[in-house]
Amino acid sequence: MSEEIITKKRVFSAIQPSGMLTLGNYLGALKNWKAMTEEFECIYAVADLHAITVRQEPSAFRKQLYNTCAVLLAIGLDPKDVTLFVQSHVAEHSQLSWLLSCYTQFGELSRMTQFKDKSAKHADNVNLGLFGYPTLMAADILLYQPDFVPVGADQKQHLELTRDVATRFNHIYGDVFKIPEPYIPKVGARVMSLQEPTAKMSKSDANVNAWVAILDKPEDIMRKFKKAVTDSENKICVGEGRDGINNLIGIYSAITGKTADEVAAEFENKGYGDFKTAVGEAVVEELRPVRESFDTFIADKKQLEDIYHEGAEKAEYYARRTVSKVMKKIGFVR
Ligand code: TRP
Repeated sequence: MSEEIITKKRVFSAIQPSGMLTLGNYLGALKNWKAMTEEFECIYAVADLHAITVRQEPSAFRKQLYNTCAVLLAIGLDPKDVTLFVQSHVAEHSQLSWLLSCYTQFGELSRMTQFKDKSAKHADNVNLGLFGYPTLMAADILLYQPDFVPVGADQKQHLELTRDVATRFNHIYGDVFKIPEPYIPKVGARVMSLQEPTAKMSKSDANVNAWVAILDKPEDIMRKFKKAVTDSENKICVGEGRDGINNLIGIYSAITGKTADEVAAEFENKGYGDFKTAVGEAVVEELRPVRESFDTFIADKKQLEDIYHEGAEKAEYYARRTVSKVMKKIGFVR
């Protein structure tokens, strides 16, 4: 009898700590993080080092870290089969970031659109960390030699840079890094603002009706969907330039698993009022167990800390191996 060894492909991803993760984070990334655990070996980090590229208020920052960890557990990530940790707890992230920064060109980083956007937005604090942000992200990824990295559209350019830097390093020193592929999720959606549906849903939007937090109360979610901007066609189907309706259909599809055509058929003889209520209710029911489970996890800090400490220990094992290989190749003395 032949024995088959099944090795799962590996996935790495990270999310910045924010106490206000949105429906966009959930449908665009986190729901998929959970789905991927069935097929892959998953390593997920809370990217706290990335967060300080813009100024953070210490007590709010601390609180957001705990909240983000609790949300990750609340969406159903099980620390028994997923490695969950906090980026700053594994010192190799900072270490590899420095090493890789010496293989990343000034010109490459200058072309990053996120850097251009953020440096315009935070013109009084265009710091070196903001500039080098993609190198830290490359380090995050390459430490774990993953096959796939699920990233949203806004992070694609950073993953491309990661691949370029890894390829350059491999050309000089031989095969050190696995070149990671972007992963396009089977589930999920790019969720747009409910008030200005040509822009991405963002928690920094001053208009609170424009975005839904994962932890929003049901009545707030319903209010926001009822106020969602649509158009005057009163026809529920996807169409060019129909950003508001397209967004609502996308959200409903991502939650129910129905295709856009199926959604159009379901609401053929209904108006926008009914549709908005249905989307709101679907979101409420999807997020209800997450919010309830969040309340349990956030109430037990000790348990949260135990979980992420254990995750960091597992992550460190991979991270150390990669850094020591990289340093040896460059010529550092051990
Ligand atoms: N920069 C990512 C974001 O803001 C978060 C992140 C940090 C990340 N390191 C990563 C994502 C590594 C994927 C892989 O969304």
